[in-house]
Amino acid sequence: MPGAIEARGLVKRYVTWERRGLFRRRRRSVEALRGVSFSTRWGEVFGLLGPNGAGKTTTVKILSTLLLPDEGGARVAGYDVVTEAVMVRDSIGVVLSVERGFFWKLTGRENLRYFGMLRGLRGRELEERVSRVLRLVGLEELGAADKLYEEYSLGMKARLALARALLHDPRVLILDEPTLGLDPVSARRIRELVVRLAHEEQRAVLITTHNMFEAEMICDRVAIIDEGVIKAIGSPEELKAKIAHSVPIVIRFRGEGGPGEAEKALRAGLEVLGLSVRPVEDGYVARILVRSGEDEEVLARAIAVLAKLGFSIRSVEVSKPSLEDVFVALTTRGKSGA
Ligand SMILES: Nc1ncnc2c1ncn2[C@@H]1O[C@H](COP(=O)(O)OP(=O)(O)OP(=O)(O)O)[C@@H](O)[C@H]1O
Ligand SMILES: [Mg+2]
Repeated sequence: MPGAIEARGLVKRYVTWERRGLFRRRRRSVEALRGVSFSTRWGEVFGLLGPNGAGKTTTVKILSTLLLPDEGGARVAGYDVVTEAVMVRDSIGVVLSVERGFFWKLTGRENLRYFGMLRGLRGRELEERVSRVLRLVGLEELGAADKLYEEYSLGMKARLALARALLHDPRVLILDEPTLGLDPVSARRIRELVVRLAHEEQRAVLITTHNMFEAEMICDRVAIIDEGVIKAIGSPEELKAKIAHSVPIVIRFRGEGGPGEAEKALRAGLEVLGLSVRPVEDGYVARILVRSGEDEEVLARAIAVLAKLGFSIRSVEVSKPSLEDVFVALTTRGKSGA
């Protein structure tokens, strides 16, 4: 079986014209992609994460045959996106972040019938497919299948866009920020469906998002892209492990006893990156910053130090690096603090 998505050295430049005074314009070239390579597997949700302007949508458009690369190439479901664009289009379902192209005066079902016919579906097969995808995305159960598109909420529009992408039963799904701006219920529905389509039906899903929580929840692997360059690829766990050495771990606990005494004892007994003790109603909250890998040892020592004073610890929280930390560590936006 051919690979799901394979991008090799994709380069894309956009040419824009800058105004210089009243009559003069200067040609400016923006290098949106500077050699993007990655491959995704069948049955996997692959996330493309990056800050605004990183090149996510440009990548998605090239893979969907909506844009031609200037250099490099890509294959989707085994077909070349430049020379076999028609085959690629038959194999993919696409949801772009800025959704256009639905008819406002038609219902969701009528819209899908129209797009199904463009895909060559007719008669009973068309009706069955349309009903199936309306059920799948939950528009049927919301009672929205036969409402006019102009009455749709953002969540319903997003669901209909996904329904349209699924009409012809594609093996590859390419979704550009499919949950952007959605309420938690709609977003969750779409995430669950995306995971099911990949894991249970062995489709390949490429999803772009800024939402680290979402990526961590549903992506089997992610690529972090910044300024047109892939900075890292791996499972969320692998990427977190990679940066763990540079991201401190925070231990927070609530203790009983005198805050002043506790702080003094902890400072004397521990070697840590940072320590603060804040009095609260019936004791204190301590916050200790430690190097990764040292959290268990430090916590055990803290407990021992406090036990000597007869103080007990009530609740402990240990925060390990998140995918967001990886993102901040690897992207320029994170480095500049913007
Ligand atoms: N049609 C265009 N003409 C000129 N420049 C463009 C065009 N489309 C995108 N760009 C530029 O290319 C770069 C990558 O844009 P792209 O839309 O791929 O980023 P993105 O990662 O999808 O960002 P976002 O998170 O904001 O959607 C940006 O610098 C953007 O300004
Ligand atoms: Mg985009």
